[in-house]
Amino acid sequence: MKRTHNCGALRLEDVGKTVSLAGWVDRRRDLGGVIFVDLRDKYGKTQIVFDPKYYAGIYATAEALRNEYVITVTGTVQARPEGMQNDKLSTGMIDVRINALTILNASENPPLAINDPKEECRENDDLRLRYRYLDLRRPWIQKNLILKSRFLKEVHDFFHANGFEDIETPVLCKSTPEGARDYLVPSRVNPGKFYALPQSPQQYKQLLMIAGMDRYYQIAKCFRDEDLRADRQPEFTQIDVEMSFVEQDDIIELFDRFVTEVIGKVWGFTPPKTIRRMKYAEAMLKYGSDKPDLRFDLEIRDVSSIAAASEFGVFKNVIASGGVVRGIAAKGCVDFTRKQIDDLTAYVGRYGSKGLVWMRVKEGGEVETQVGKFFTTEQLNALRDATGAEAGDMMFFIAGNEKMAANAMGQLRLEIARLKNLMDPSVREFVWITDFPMFEYSETEGRYMSMHHPFTSPMPEHLETMLSGDLKNCNAQAYDLVLNGVEIGGGSVRIHNPQVQEKVFRLLGLTEEQVREKFGFFVDAFKYGAPPHGGLAFGLDRVVATLEGFDSIRDFIAFPKNTSASSPMDQSPSEVELEQLQDIHISVNLPK
Ligand code: AMO
Ligand code: AMP
Repeated sequence: MKRTHNCGALRLEDVGKTVSLAGWVDRRRDLGGVIFVDLRDKYGKTQIVFDPKYYAGIYATAEALRNEYVITVTGTVQARPEGMQNDKLSTGMIDVRINALTILNASENPPLAINDPKEECRENDDLRLRYRYLDLRRPWIQKNLILKSRFLKEVHDFFHANGFEDIETPVLCKSTPEGARDYLVPSRVNPGKFYALPQSPQQYKQLLMIAGMDRYYQIAKCFRDEDLRADRQPEFTQIDVEMSFVEQDDIIELFDRFVTEVIGKVWGFTPPKTIRRMKYAEAMLKYGSDKPDLRFDLEIRDVSSIAAASEFGVFKNVIASGGVVRGIAAKGCVDFTRKQIDDLTAYVGRYGSKGLVWMRVKEGGEVETQVGKFFTTEQLNALRDATGAEAGDMMFFIAGNEKMAANAMGQLRLEIARLKNLMDPSVREFVWITDFPMFEYSETEGRYMSMHHPFTSPMPEHLETMLSGDLKNCNAQAYDLVLNGVEIGGGSVRIHNPQVQEKVFRLLGLTEEQVREKFGFFVDAFKYGAPPHGGLAFGLDRVVATLEGFDSIRDFIAFPKNTSASSPMDQSPSEVELEQLQDIHISVNLPK
């Protein structure tokens, strides 16, 4: 059964050789008594020819071939005749005239067309996931998995070359306070007790620093029971890193190098040696997001002071009640129709905006708008200049509380970019977002919560602010790496001083008892000499998907879950035998 070549290997130089190939029937064409088959494996496709003129009898066996049959063949490599070459295929200059065929396995008619290019794979996702092993035969998905594997090799090489140790941490562990809901695993031998699957190895990697391991990394599986989206899976993989005796700059600089030496190498481009950095506050103001897509400008401006001076009730009222007015110049959009504007108004409505004011900038700079009577010409011109709008542009304004206005404006910015085709998939814009707020007020909880996690260190210059209880004006030594509007990684410098940690717990409203119960072992460890440390984790699936210009990380995970966190292939999660439940002391109490 030995292959002499794989299906992507043969070239003109091989003409005349006798070769053996093995693979799947990708497509079979019967051209007047001669049968052509594209034979496919992981490496490519080779056209093989069954011509009864040369080998009587071969046609009859070949006629039985159907898509996805597994075969081996032996034959002679020949140059394709003029006009029959296919330069899209690495083997497109040759084909193989077959004189021996063995069918190793037949196949039922597959429910997915394996040879469809990506754009044509329009089956619903559940069908693809139900037959994932067939979906995975598609060359464009295999390419994704192979790329991820190649990337991982470079990742391992990079960290080893830089003195990091690859250390495994438990999958059955104690709940980590990462913010999402935990997946729980009942313990059979400890009735009534549960492990949590790690949302990330956060505490373990910090304990490894306390243990003196100095530089740790791991390709770590993480589990989060949260609402799923295209870029979120219940189990996903992090490139997880922690370092001792470092400050924020050391960590960011290491990852600047990682981007150049690993990402740049694998994807064949030259990222900036030093990735630009932007403070959270600036990102929220100018881009309405803590993960700005910087492939295009379209900057948002605060026009509150101009708006406040107008006679426009909507703006005046919002500002009087402590809100803001934000504006944007949509370049070249002066001709947007009423319908397009209505659609955009509905779009920002989804993000909580009660409306959308538009103004057109005409030839010569004159501003035209429905609400013009509430503004003086000077005010209209001031709005135009503040947003940077010019003749041919449309201005849009949103008024409301700062959080809503920033976010809705940020979403509008992205929507305009989509409409104007500004998101060039071949452009890669990295940015570090720094100076995140340490705490965030939660309306639902009615209290301040950690924006990252409670082990994140405040900015040294904000330590006093924090200790005095001013949670609003305290920033953290936390940073995210953003690529084309996607958060591909994030991390922080950790608190290593037990007194500061204690204080943060108090500020978060945790009692001494709750701290004992939740993080007792962790807090204890810090009593025995914790080095200053910090780290970061990349979302492996997101890095690869974003670099390849895919929205969905599923196309980079061999066996992903659907949006209801289940697998249509193996039907997990599933019910289990009553006995299994009894073993682990669980009784199921389903909602009526
Ligand atoms: P964070 O929660 O920001 O940080 O996660 C790090 C990165 O992991 C990716 N990611 C996900 N990818 C796919 N599906 C998900 N459900 C998902 N959730 C997160 C993102 C994100 O940037 N322990 C900290 C890191 C640290 O502080 O060192 C952590 O887990 O790309
Ligand atoms: P109304 O006073 O609700 O009729 O709105 C007058 C105009 O202001 C309409 O064009 C609305 O789309 C717009 N508008 C209303 N509320 C807001 C808001 N919060 N931000 C921006 N525009 C608004």
